[in-house]
Amino acid sequence: MDIPVIKIFDTTLRDGEQTPGVCLEVDEKLEIAQALAKLRVDVIEAGFPIASPGDFAAVSQVAAKIKGGPTIAGLARAGQKDIDAAVNALKQAERPRIHTFIATSDIHMEYKLKMSREQVLARAEEAVRYARKFVEDVEFSAEDASRSDWDFLCQIYTAVIDAGASTINVPDTVGYTSPSEFGALIKYIRDHVPNIHRAAISVHCHDDLGMSVANSLAAIENGATQVECAMNGLGERAGNASLEEIVMALHTRKEFYKAETRIDTTQIYRTSRLVSTLAGISVPPNKAVVGENAFAHESGIHQHGVLNNSLTYEIMRPETVGISRNAIVLGKHSGRHAFEDRLKELGFELDSDTVNMLFVRFKELADRKKMVFDRDIEALVNEKVSLKPE
Ligand code: KIV
Ligand code: ZN
Repeated sequence: MDIPVIKIFDTTLRDGEQTPGVCLEVDEKLEIAQALAKLRVDVIEAGFPIASPGDFAAVSQVAAKIKGGPTIAGLARAGQKDIDAAVNALKQAERPRIHTFIATSDIHMEYKLKMSREQVLARAEEAVRYARKFVEDVEFSAEDASRSDWDFLCQIYTAVIDAGASTINVPDTVGYTSPSEFGALIKYIRDHVPNIHRAAISVHCHDDLGMSVANSLAAIENGATQVECAMNGLGERAGNASLEEIVMALHTRKEFYKAETRIDTTQIYRTSRLVSTLAGISVPPNKAVVGENAFAHESGIHQHGVLNNSLTYEIMRPETVGISRNAIVLGKHSGRHAFEDRLKELGFELDSDTVNMLFVRFKELADRKKMVFDRDIEALVNEKVSLKPE
């Protein structure tokens, strides 16, 4: 059976850059785009060209330099000026995509756009038709879709697909939905948009209630074939769904989700580090997949299990995401097995009595220090050697 391939649409350079406090230079964006291409993402959303000269330059540079791989997308509100800017910035892209959007929830239409449903519908159709004059690949997003009227959403998606959109995106703009509700919305769209077979369904989830990844996966279970996400979960407010978590969920539970991606997972860790360094946003140690502790096993019971068979406590191999070995942290819960193993790795072949004696000293040290590093263990061994009677 052919497993459907889920497209990974990376928005680190656009929504990710909307993380409070993050501002990336053009060269930095290019470096990240190169890493994303190596990671084999399907789409790089390089920026919002009309937003600023810097954003325009970044999209132009990414479009000019990233060849032979991902589609390069530029964001545009549903209006000619925005679309013209995106078209110009994407001129040199091998595979350009215009990503145009307008809000569809009553609250956004009334208080932000001050437009009626009819006006929004007409504007969306016009924008897609206009963008299609320049590029074949047009994505339409109904901003705040998860708080929009479902029948109005279906009406607008039907109209934009007729106008030429090849991807319709369903954003949970304010991170409001829940997995079962969002899954049901995707199913409703599949069942109530008559021309849906002519477009891919995409989702774009924010993490305000910590459910962006779960919501994205629920959407995939219900027929979405593109997910929008950002490295390290960067993005507006609490961020976007994190790329590494979605990719590794699909990779680790391929049989369950019956879907896969084209991502080279071994590039995940280095891309995460690069984004963290350039964006200046550190990755919390307990962050899934890429956090410092993601593959660290502190308690003795866990360490013992992992040393015998890593599958006891590891559902993914660190090597799969590009981490060279188990980062086993030694601490006060570490057992003798892990301690002895680390001694061997450090090149110390010691008899059992010596290991026992050192293990007692190690525990005393671990009680004082939260973590015991290799240099501490070397010091323990050297101290013991220098104390040894002639
Ligand atoms: O969160 C959102 O709705 C967006 C759209 C522009 C897709 O970022
Ligand atoms: Zn967003």
